[in-house]
Amino acid sequence: MTTATELVRAPVATPAYDIVRAAFAELRVRDLGVSEHFYAELLGMVVAARTEDAIYLRGWEERAHHSLVLRRAETPAAARLGFRVRGEEDLDLLAADLEAQGLPTHWVDAPDPAIGRVLRAADPFGYPLEFFHVMQQVETSHQRFDLQRGAPILRFDHLNLHTPRPEAAFRFWTGLGFRCSEYIATDGPEDRITAGWLFRKPTVHDVGLTAGRGPRLHHTAFWVGESAAVLRACDQLAAAGHAGVIERGPGRHGVSNAFFVYLRDPDGHRIELYSSDYYTGDPDHEPLRWSVNDVRCRSFWGTRAPDSWYEESSLILGPDGEVAGLEDSAVDERTEVMA
Ligand SMILES: [Fe+2]
Repeated sequence: MTTATELVRAPVATPAYDIVRAAFAELRVRDLGVSEHFYAELLGMVVAARTEDAIYLRGWEERAHHSLVLRRAETPAAARLGFRVRGEEDLDLLAADLEAQGLPTHWVDAPDPAIGRVLRAADPFGYPLEFFHVMQQVETSHQRFDLQRGAPILRFDHLNLHTPRPEAAFRFWTGLGFRCSEYIATDGPEDRITAGWLFRKPTVHDVGLTAGRGPRLHHTAFWVGESAAVLRACDQLAAAGHAGVIERGPGRHGVSNAFFVYLRDPDGHRIELYSSDYYTGDPDHEPLRWSVNDVRCRSFWGTRAPDSWYEESSLILGPDGEVAGLEDSAVDERTEVMA
């Protein structure tokens, strides 16, 4: 087994292609009207498009057409995890790399409004990944303060994956050129990763890894402009009679320094409102280690995350359209903490 220390010290791949950032998620929901009310009215996202069975949304700052797809289905699940690449040629180079790893890939032309050629792939753990370059650019509404509602949500920030094999997942993502900003590890000479934060854009992360039963989507995170926006969102949710959707926080993360709150949408999908992390783009930016025994890592103020936060996540629809089978994790952050 590779220890956490060995993993984070290993060189990060510098592939020929350039993945720019995590860019969208598709969540399957049971009632589009109920979900639209949650995301557009309560949280204040912009509706970009509607089709017969889906709604496309974005944040107020975003110039790409959409960053969240809600599609009607009988069973809630996460169906697509989207990443933008630098150019069309990056898609071909990436496809060749994934195929060389023995991973299934195929091409889809414009599967959604406003998007171009899409490379679909399954990662080694069952996550349905999608990569694209072309997405219609729209006029930003960043300064339409007169129209904004909710927090407001400004842009997509990251995905967090509940993964039973965090070391293997860490190697897969660093193999695609993702760098580690921070990680949580058990103590001792055989230290193990219980969580990792991996980035392409120069912030703390595009992909977070949380050790646990999976593959599942732990949460989708959206950027808000300031700590007060997190509090404003909670006030508005409570005033509208929806205080029960607030699962964890508001608070300050130790990891990432972000001010955050975790919400559960009408189908149980976990959403994080996230602000105030930091720049990571310098080439010699070293991963920051946190011990599982440091109570400040998950919440800087020392508050433990509730068990639901460790145990519940969105099921994953695999590339075959079936819910991915689950595997228990060999490591659980909560049981690694010494009393
Ligand atoms: Fe997060």
